[in-house]
Amino acid sequence: MKISIIGAGNVGASAALKVCEKELAEEVVLVDIAEGVPQGKALDIQQAMPLNNSNTRIKGTNDYAEINGSGIVVVTAGVPRKPGMTREDLLNVNANIIKSIVGHIKKHAPDSIVIVVTNPLDIMSYIMLKETGFDKSKVIGMAGVLDSTRFRTFIALETGAKVEDIEAMVLGGHGDSMVPLAAHTKVDGKPITDILPPEKVEKLVQRTRDGGAEIVKLLKTGSAFYAPGASVVEMIESIVNENEKVLQCSVYLDGEYGYEDIFLGVPVRLGSDGVKEIVVLELNDKEQELLDRSAESVKEVVSKIR
Ligand code: APR
Repeated sequence: MKISIIGAGNVGASAALKVCEKELAEEVVLVDIAEGVPQGKALDIQQAMPLNNSNTRIKGTNDYAEINGSGIVVVTAGVPRKPGMTREDLLNVNANIIKSIVGHIKKHAPDSIVIVVTNPLDIMSYIMLKETGFDKSKVIGMAGVLDSTRFRTFIALETGAKVEDIEAMVLGGHGDSMVPLAAHTKVDGKPITDILPPEKVEKLVQRTRDGGAEIVKLLKTGSAFYAPGASVVEMIESIVNENEKVLQCSVYLDGEYGYEDIFLGVPVRLGSDGVKEIVVLELNDKEQELLDRSAESVKEVVSKIR
């Protein structure tokens, strides 16, 4: 397996380090437009590998031809929102970056599974699918894994439960409209709604929704990257090992959950061909309404870039 990561920034480099530590690929390629940066980070990561007993080889480059033959291509290239920039400005800048990368993926890694990380996630994934013309099972957005690990974290901190005993479910768009499903979120198999009072649950849900913003506020000059990097690797592991785990990912919906022609976060099973199965959960009216609203807000942004 060869895995390429486009964008050697914070998220790209964190994901690369973990992929190499876990020896999930024989070869990892880190690509960036900044000269020296992917080369330097790759060399640094390579030098950590004897300490991990990992024989993965990692190479940094500015040449897209090096992604040649990759089974998985992770796209983290993009710019973060800067002061004075509207969400729409960011959307246009990152949309153009994604479009500039598409041709390279089609040319050099036409059979790859593409994991999109660049924000706004559901929109960038949509552009990637439409512009590559890849099968809908081959383009997957990373969002739900991150949102649900954040939800699990806050539940663990609140209840003292072990993280491995906590399952969390977060659907919908990656952003303000995400839908953490409290009734499908469990501690020791019991719904969280049976364990904590509603106002506590709502607080944890809100902290999950604001999970990214809370970190941006603290960092001031950038956004989260350790948990996002680890979330990418959770998806890669599922693809490489076909471990049948149900992960929440942003995928192209073609009628599932009642939506069409949209990327939205839902539970899926991943495998060596990408999305193997979209798991359809029973939602109550309130949950469906929140998901509808989330879908509407994603559709609205897509219509703007059309
Ligand atoms: N090709 C390759 N790399 C590019 C390109 C391009 N066309 N344009 C920008 N880059 C690179 C930048 O040089 C930079 O190294 O993308 C990298 C982005 O890294 P950071 O600025 O550190 O951003 P990061 O925190 O990694 O986030 C990347 O993931 O979670 C999302 O919202 C986040 O959209 C953002 C993305």
